[in-house]
Parts: sequence; structure tokens; C-alpha cells
Amino acid sequence: MKNNNRRGFMGKAFGAVAAVGAVGSLYAMKKSWDPLPSVKAAGFTTLDMSIYEEGVMVTEKWRGKPIFVLKQSAEMLKKAKENPRDIERLVEVDGSHYMMCIGLCTHLGCIPAFRQDKNDFKCACHGGEFDASGMVQLVPPPRGFDIPPFKIDGTKLVLGEVGPEWQAMKDNGITL
Ligand code: FES
Repeated sequence: MKNNNRRGFMGKAFGAVAAVGAVGSLYAMKKSWDPLPSVKAAGFTTLDMSIYEEGVMVTEKWRGKPIFVLKQSAEMLKKAKENPRDIERLVEVDGSHYMMCIGLCTHLGCIPAFRQDKNDFKCACHGGEFDASGMVQLVPPPRGFDIPPFKIDGTKLVLGEVGPEWQAMKDNGITL
């Protein structure tokens, strides 16, 4: 009888320890599945659009991809306004217009170079060209630069978040 009680106590104690251990391991497993805070934050990139200068091409980074940002000069904007498909590609923030695109050629993914003297982009791989709004000018690229999802937040752009302006571009076939 005494032995039975002892066995019962030992069984319960062992069960309790095992249960605590199981909960602990489940917690540890969940922790290892959850993305690190830095990885979560890495999905979004915030650009302060007020720092860019007209006509100066800057390459930023989002999810490991180059992002071309080109604040349109008066001359670029005048040219873009002549073609509805060009002007539609530009992002307007605080009264200024920007080309903001993924800087990868839509042919086979090379990184085109900005030509300051011509205000356009040339892809060295197969000769494709894009204008200052990111629209394709010379094949083989099948379309203009792709525009990453963005949301306008005051004078900032949050890349990786879908805002109404980007959604409209996507719905109108301006970007994939
Ligand atoms: S990869 Fe750019 S033209 Fe082919």
C-alpha cells in the first residue's frame, strides 16, 4: 500500500516534470519558427523623399533588390507629361514627382546604368533602354521597370506596403 502511494506520487511528479518540459520545448520551437524582429522589419523600407535632389539618380535597397529613385527635374517632368504612360508611372509625394522602381532590367534582370547626359537608363546586357520615368524605350525588355508596392506616408514612402496609389498602378497595368 505504502509502495503504491509512493509509485503514484512518483508518477505524478514525473508527469508534471515532463509536461513542463514539453511546454518549454514547444515554446522554444515556436520561438525558432517566428521570424526575428529584424527580419520582420526588413520586409519594409522607408524612404524619406524630401532628401532627394532633382535629376540625381539614387539607388536604394529593398528586400535585397536595387531601387532606383529619380526625382524628376522640370525637363524630365515636361517630357513625361507628353506621354500618359510615362506620367502614370511617377509617384507624386508632397507636390514632387519621382521615378521609383526596382532597378532590374525586365528582360533578364541585369542592372541598367543611368546615363546622366541622356537622362535615361541603358542595359549593357542586350542593349535595352528606359527613359527617366522607367518606361522601356528600346527592346528587348518587354516592359518598363517594375514598381515595388509602396504606401505614401506624408513625405515618406513605405516600400513593401500596399497603398491606394500603388494598387491603382497595378490595376491599370503600369506594373506587375
Ligand atoms: S537583361 Fe537588359 S536587355 Fe537583356
